[in-house]
Amino acid sequence: MWKVQLFKLNFDHREAEAVAAVIESGWLTMGERTTSFESAFASFLGEDAKAAAVSNGTAALHLALLALGVGPGDEVIVPAQTFVADVNAVMLTGARPVMADCTSFDDWNMSVEDIERKVTPRTKCVMIVHYAGVPCDMDAIVALCRGRGLSLVEDCAHAPGATYKGRSVGTFGDVGCWSFFTNKNLSVGEGGMVTTLSPELDRQMRYLRSHGMTTLTLDRHKGRAITYDVVRPGLNYRIDEMRAALGLVQLAKLREANIARRRVVQRYRDAFSALEGLVIPFGSTPDREPSYHIFPVLLPAEVDRTQVIENLKAQGVQSSIHYPAIHEFSAYAGMDLGATPIADEVSRRELTLPLYPGMTDEDIETVIAAFRAAYMAARERLAVGIAG
Ligand SMILES: Cc1ncc(COP(=O)(O)O)c(C=O)c1O
Repeated sequence: MWKVQLFKLNFDHREAEAVAAVIESGWLTMGERTTSFESAFASFLGEDAKAAAVSNGTAALHLALLALGVGPGDEVIVPAQTFVADVNAVMLTGARPVMADCTSFDDWNMSVEDIERKVTPRTKCVMIVHYAGVPCDMDAIVALCRGRGLSLVEDCAHAPGATYKGRSVGTFGDVGCWSFFTNKNLSVGEGGMVTTLSPELDRQMRYLRSHGMTTLTLDRHKGRAITYDVVRPGLNYRIDEMRAALGLVQLAKLREANIARRRVVQRYRDAFSALEGLVIPFGSTPDREPSYHIFPVLLPAEVDRTQVIENLKAQGVQSSIHYPAIHEFSAYAGMDLGATPIADEVSRRELTLPLYPGMTDEDIETVIAAFRAAYMAARERLAVGIAG
């Protein structure tokens, strides 16, 4: 259906062989591949990080909040410009989400000033998102959280491989939460990771991941344990060996894949900078190396986004929206989540173009030509409308 789709996996025979080897091994749930994936991911982050693999990014966020003791009566400051999982995870702990706005129309990451404005005596935690894989202003955010005694969760779903001043995202806050969903930089289908520099938080998250139990099925299988204790009520947010095996292969490909993404983004930026009225965010990101998860643009307010999407579709190019405004979802309608005028405007005008490491020159040129044509057509319609 699509000439160029929004995202394509960069899988090959290595992923297929890794999964086949798991099936042949006869051990499907958390085992030696999970342990290897965790230690490889922890080494990749550096800073002596600890990593525990989980079933998905939402589970990672939920575990982080539970381990940090977030619950009823607490407030957690979350970005308005994000996927709904952040807000859902806060709600499901019984705490209240409070939204902070984007920094500007150029920098869609959370505004440190707005976080500060929204802190109340009930604020327990700040949850940030490195949107599109661009690291947030970590010096300022860490200083704010330390100064106010707030925990800090980094949602790194978009950001495997992204660094701030040479240091991996996910190692600045109390917990880093990662998603390995199909369309992420590191894809396993459904999967995630919680990372921390704190041995105690690591221990608590491991309990919470697996029913609060002190031993794993693998320990009993290997004869390392006979029974187990349950030290706190926990969930089952475990990963399985097939996904851990995919994660190991994908982690080995990540650096190259992010470089390939960067090349596409550079081509888009060069091509689109001449389009009058179009904003390409994150124009300059000193001290930050993004992971180039998605390529978002901001259409002019007057342009009809649906027409652009339909025009792209007619030319065989898939596009998407990151993200619809959370307060417009039925589940959150009528809830006071805090004023976020920039994020609201971004939600109305944002468009995401295809981006994945395997894009060929032809794919890139197809997207560039299609978007240029769709954009010019939308603006011409506008000019005709105004003249008429
Ligand atoms: C910013 C953000 N946070 C959290 C998630 C949730 O991750 P998962 O789909 O693995 O639950 C996603 C993606 O899906 C995301 O984009």
